[in-house]
This record gives sequence, structure tokens and C-alpha cells, in this order.
Amino acid sequence: MQFLTILLGASALITPTLAQTWSACNPTNLTETRTCPNDPGFGIAHNFDFKEAGEVKNSFNITNGMLTYGDDGTEFTINKQGESPTIQSKFYIMFGSISVIMKAAPGVGIVSSIVIQSECLDEIDWEFIGGNGTHVQTNYFGDGNTTTFDRDQWHPVDGDVRDGFHNYTVDWKADKMDFFVDTKWVRTLNYGEANGGKNYPQTPSTVRLGIWAGGDKSNNKGTIEWAGGETDFSKAPFQMVVKSTYIKDYGTGKEYEWTDKSSDFKSIKSIP
Ligand SMILES: *[C@@H]1O[C@H](CO)[C@@H](O)[C@H](O)[C@H]1NC(C)=O
Ligand SMILES: *[C@@H]1O[C@H](CO)[C@@H](O)[C@H](O)[C@H]1NC(C)=O
Ligand SMILES: *[C@@H]1O[C@H](CO)[C@@H](O)[C@H](O)[C@H]1NC(C)=O
Ligand SMILES: *[C@@H]1O[C@H](CO)[C@@H](O)[C@H](O)[C@H]1NC(C)=O
Ligand SMILES: *[C@@H]1O[C@H](CO)[C@@H](O)[C@H](O)[C@H]1NC(C)=O
Repeated sequence: MQFLTILLGASALITPTLAQTWSACNPTNLTETRTCPNDPGFGIAHNFDFKEAGEVKNSFNITNGMLTYGDDGTEFTINKQGESPTIQSKFYIMFGSISVIMKAAPGVGIVSSIVIQSECLDEIDWEFIGGNGTHVQTNYFGDGNTTTFDRDQWHPVDGDVRDGFHNYTVDWKADKMDFFVDTKWVRTLNYGEANGGKNYPQTPSTVRLGIWAGGDKSNNKGTIEWAGGETDFSKAPFQMVVKSTYIKDYGTGKEYEWTDKSSDFKSIKSIP
């Protein structure tokens, strides 16, 4: 599910601060008169230990809700309707490898997600539907293009995604991206397959982790159906747990600059 769609669908629940954070500046917006700021680059590789609150807080903004830290890692919990704890990396990567070791939340309509998203709304997703323990969905969008919804794929996982920790990895390069569940390869998306590259995610992106109720009855019908049905909040809490997150920026920039409005990776300048 496209992240912006989620936000719009849940607009009643979004605080103005959050709304501003997410639509900061779209470099491809032709009516935007000012220039968007450069994106702070990560430029390195690091394994974030999510049992350590400090590791998380230093490098991620909590963009909605509250987190708790348990023996297994960082807990993203929905205790009641309207909650959707979410974090976003403070840095951007320009292609890279991202491995999240996590346990998805149970609960019909509850969505646990890993989202890699840029300011022009290029997006790579892993999504877990709380009513379904056997499969995970991958999806992608380029420039926020949602004219077709045929890009998602479901992948089987050995063991229930809600009961055990698994390693969800995407290796994202300019020419293709590969998805892995644990050590098993599950999907390749080639640049050209994504509408000749136009819909291929290729701009500096942050890493976002969170949980939300796609099955909230205030959402549109399509979202509720996709999420597996209406959420019964009397069954809360619903909890997703992240043990660790490895992020390697394939770019080496201190900053990534959008030199034009094309949203083509060749237009992104890496500033050392
Ligand atoms: C484009 O920029 C204008 C002016 O800043 C803003 O009002 C509008 O919401 C932006 N549109 C998008 C899709 O970001
Ligand atoms: C993280 O939060 C700080 C403080 O609100 C803000 O300046 C910064 O732009 C945020 N980072 C991202 C990537 O949104
Ligand atoms: C989980 O999703 C997969 C893929 O869509 C589907 O084949 C399977 O039947 C689903 N399981 C449940 C319990 O809904
Ligand atoms: C996660 O999976 C990827 C791809 O199989 C692998 O390279 C990486 O070492 C794994 N990470 C951990 C912590 O197991
Ligand atoms: C959006 O994606 C569809 C499907 O790939 C494509 O036909 C269409 O031209 C794209 N729209 C834009 C504005 O690129």
C-alpha cells in the first residue's frame, strides 16, 4: 500500500506536525517555487541494535506515537484505535542494502511495515497483514505513481511471521533490486520492468518502520479489504517488534542534491 495513500486515508488521525514532516518538499513538484534542501546522506553501513533506545533515538525520528524497549527489541504497539507508532531514519541512502530483523504484529487489519521512501515518493515496501501469518507482501512505487496496483507480490515465509523473528532484506541497486526472506531469495525487480525505469525507485530515501491499522473502519473500503478486514480493537494490544536493522548506503555522500526535477538517479549529485 502506498505510504501517502495510508496517510491520506488516515488523515483524520494525523497531527499537523506529522503531515508537515511527510510532505516537507517534493523536488519534482513543478509548482514548488523554492528549492528543496539537500538530503543528509548516511554514506556508511551500520547495524542498529533495536534493544538500545539510544541507537534508535539517535538515528531515527519518531514520527508518530510512542515506542517501548523490551528484551527482544523495539516495540511498536497499537493499544487502541488511532495509534500508529512510526519511525523514520534521519538520514537518506542512495541505493543500499536494508535488513530488518523483526516479528510482525497479529490482529486482523493490522499492518506492520518496512518502507523505504524518497521525497518524490519513490517507495519500496514490505508489508505484513496481521490476519495472515504465512505471507509477506513486497511492493514498489515510482514518483508516487499509483495508476496501477499490479506491482505487489506475496511471498511465503517458513514459520509464522507473527511468532518468530525473520530477516527481511532488500538489496537496492540502480539496475535491479533483490528481496530476501532470511537467506532465501524471493524477488527481483529489474529497472526496465518498472515502466521502462520510470516507476523504478531511484532517489535518496529514508527507512521507515511502523505499524498501523489498515482495518480501521474510518479507512476507505479498498484499504480495509487489502488489510484483510476490519480491526477489532477490543483485541488490542497489537505489537510489532524489531530486533535490529542493518542499513548500508551504497552512496557515499554526506548530502544528496536534486539537481533537477527529473527524479532520475543520474540527476542526483552526491556531495562528499
Ligand atoms: C507542490 O508545491 C506547492 C507549493 O509549495 C504545494 O502547495 C503543494 O501542496 C505541492 N504539491 C505536492 C503534490 O507536493
Ligand atoms: C527529523 O526531525 C528533525 C527535527 O524535527 C528534522 O529537522 C529533520 O528534518 C527530521 N528528519 C527527517 C529525515 O525527516
Ligand atoms: C495469506 O496470503 C496468501 C497470499 O495472498 C494467501 O495465499 C493465503 O491464503 C493467506 N492466508 C490467510 C490465512 O489469509
Ligand atoms: C539477512 O539476510 C541477508 C540476505 O540473505 C544476509 O546477507 C544478512 O547477513 C542477514 N542478516 C542477519 C543478521 O542474519
Ligand atoms: C504510471 O504508471 C503507469 C503504469 O506503469 C504508466 O502507464 C503511466 O504512464 C505512469 N504515469 C506517469 C505519469 O509516469
